[in-house]
Amino acid sequence: MSERGDEWAIETSGLVKTFGAQRAVNGVDLAVPAGTVYGVLGPNGAGKTTTVRMLATLLRPDGGEARVFGHDVVAEAELVRSRVSLTGQYASVDEDLTGAENLILLARLLGHRKPAARQRAEQLLAAFGLTAAADKQVKNYSGGMRRRVDIAASILNTPDLLFLDEPTTGLDPRSRNQVWDIVRAVVAQGTTVLLTTQYLDEADQLAGRIAVIDAGRVIAEGTPGELKSSVGAGSVRVRLRAADQREAARRVLAARLGTEVQLDADPLSLTARLPADDTARGPAERAAAALGELAAGGVTVDDFALGQPSLDEVFLALTGRPAEPARPTGPTDPDRPRSDNEQKEAVA
Ligand SMILES: Nc1ncnc2c1ncn2[C@@H]1O[C@H](COP(=O)(O)OP(=O)(O)OP(=O)(O)O)[C@@H](O)[C@H]1O
Ligand SMILES: [Mg+2]
Repeated sequence: MSERGDEWAIETSGLVKTFGAQRAVNGVDLAVPAGTVYGVLGPNGAGKTTTVRMLATLLRPDGGEARVFGHDVVAEAELVRSRVSLTGQYASVDEDLTGAENLILLARLLGHRKPAARQRAEQLLAAFGLTAAADKQVKNYSGGMRRRVDIAASILNTPDLLFLDEPTTGLDPRSRNQVWDIVRAVVAQGTTVLLTTQYLDEADQLAGRIAVIDAGRVIAEGTPGELKSSVGAGSVRVRLRAADQREAARRVLAARLGTEVQLDADPLSLTARLPADDTARGPAERAAAALGELAAGGVTVDDFALGQPSLDEVFLALTGRPAEPARPTGPTDPDRPRSDNEQKEAVA
């Protein structure tokens, strides 16, 4: 690991966390360049939150090392804490207070005097499109509004490193876009962002580099483009006029694209993965040729879509199996009350 912390926001080597018999994090190596958005992509139970909690000094690692801006997360926890902020997977603002009250209260706790706290709260509410909702209790907010107020709370003091743990899970597309814009604005101010997500497209939109984690291990790392090209060119989804033509369509697509074709739950639909192909013909052209062949074979296609590879496809390509949630050996709800041992163990 480098001595200086100005180049790498995060460096970990062989990071381990066990819960009972389970290795939730099983030797994670990460190198996150300062000033970038770094994506940690993985399915339920992969170890994303556990990794983030160790990096944010909320949980003590059982093995390996982690540095944040060159500071050890255990030996120099105080220093690390002064430079990071965490927006958890579950909202942490007070439901009974209004958005404005929450932000003002937290700003006061951070040491801002009342006028400055009020001013900062107003500024953030405006920036996050929450001015009209400022005086409503948070319990009456939509999921998207709540997530925005949560992120606002975590950047009251501009942190050098912001952890965003699944910031858009459960949000509608419009709210997701708003959160994405916020992330871009935060990074433009010089903050490094480590973002966990279950969505490849989210990591693709925001992150300069992505680590894919599965069962507590990094199974792939690279730019979004590198990951996607290792997976293939995406997929073509076809919706037929008649369900009894599906078998014929499957045979044509499989032969034409040289790939497996999956029958979807909808009896009219099927999906074919487009294999990576280094010929000059792009995925759209290959898909169009296959659709032409369906038409020539008398199969009526009502609709089709050319899709980017999904996390499921990344997983299938990397591990040979779908991205199934890890089999938990204990309680899985991270919101549940923590055991005494866990409480004591938290470095914070
Ligand atoms: N405090 C805990 N006690 C026992 N097991 C835990 C604890 N925290 C996490 N685990 C287990 O460790 C594994 C990794 O959990 P973690 O919350 O880090 O996953 P995740 O990638 O954040 O998943 P999700 O996408 O569902 O948030 C899971 O199998 C989980 O059940
Ligand atoms: Mg999590």
